Amino acid sequence: MRAIVTGGAGFIGSHLVDALLDRGFEVMALDDLSSGRRENVAPQAEFVALDIRDRKAVFDVFKAFRPDFVFHQAAQASVSVSVREPYLDAEVNLMGGLNVLEAAREVGVRRFVFASTGGAIYGEIPEDQRATEDWPVRPKSPYAADKAGFEYHLEAFWQNFQLPYTSLRYANVYGPRQNPHGEAGVVAIFSHRMLRGEPVVLFAREEVGDPGGVRDYIHVSDVVAANLLAIEGGLDGVYNVGTGEGHATEEVLWTIAQVLEVKPEIRFAPPRPGDLQRSVLDAAKLERVGWRPRLSFDEGMRQTALWFQAQVLERPRDS
Ligand SMILES: NC(=O)c1ccc[n+]([C@@H]2O[C@H](COP(=O)([O-])OP(=O)(O)OC[C@H]3O[C@@H](n4cnc5c(N)ncnc54)[C@H](O)[C@@H]3O)[C@@H](O)[C@H]2O)c1
Repeated sequence: MRAIVTGGAGFIGSHLVDALLDRGFEVMALDDLSSGRRENVAPQAEFVALDIRDRKAVFDVFKAFRPDFVFHQAAQASVSVSVREPYLDAEVNLMGGLNVLEAAREVGVRRFVFASTGGAIYGEIPEDQRATEDWPVRPKSPYAADKAGFEYHLEAFWQNFQLPYTSLRYANVYGPRQNPHGEAGVVAIFSHRMLRGEPVVLFAREEVGDPGGVRDYIHVSDVVAANLLAIEGGLDGVYNVGTGEGHATEEVLWTIAQVLEVKPEIRFAPPRPGDLQRSVLDAAKLERVGWRPRLSFDEGMRQTALWFQAQVLERPRDS
């Protein structure tokens, strides 16, 4: 079996590459390395550096490799960037995505698995509630709008060409290899900065100084398991991937600080445009087909903070 992972040098994509190799797949990772790193890609996988906006390059690679499955993880993945540069977001997340989708159809893939966003697509989730898949889609950012738009293209490709798809709406994913240098990925950013003795910024939920937005934090290993289940279980349509638990940013901050045994310097900042106040998912649909989050919040945060600590000890300057 052959699989293409777009964004395969990124955080989630590279873990997926590892899991597919473990299962005996021939794997090709595609990535333009805009936020991903070549060294994230296991040496047993093929790697092609390309920008998914380059339609010809995408088609050439698909025709040569002829994958059975596609896991489309490549994206402009920052909400804040999308608010500043909506055109860029659409170019990568819609037009680039369509290149991948059309190439997948051209070579007759068996299933297209898409990294969508449960963390952004539903808009605000009121206190004590969780979004199920049939919650109305209310994008607050161009990023969420384009992820939603691409889901509609998947549905249209299913209706017109019977291309099976699974859209996995991830909650806030965290874990080893997350890029700490961007604007997304609070666990990576906090760990990295605390380990360097740098101040951490706590963006408010409403008022400067409050505990920050509430998110559903899911460990990358659980997200990889959902991707594998998508092809092994032949899951059709849209599935949330989350824990159903909400945690404020401040809780993340103190959990990491405790693991790393540091006293962080906190800078309080106003809410960021496009960011939601509260987002928590209901993943009962995925749980009914056998998936469960394996790592608790505390254990996942502990493992991740310790991974970042080990990185800093190994490569004090660049990691
Ligand atoms: N991390 C999260 O919390 C989260 C939540 C919901 C959805 N997602 C989605 O999951 C996917 C993976 O996200 P991640 O957290 O691993 O982020 P990431 O930035 O580590 O991974 C994205 C990868 O895509 C690559 N890429 C970006 N633009 C590209 C282009 N034009 N052509 C080719 N490659 C390109 C980047 O270099 C990077 O390696 C994304 O689609 C993201 O939107 C992530």
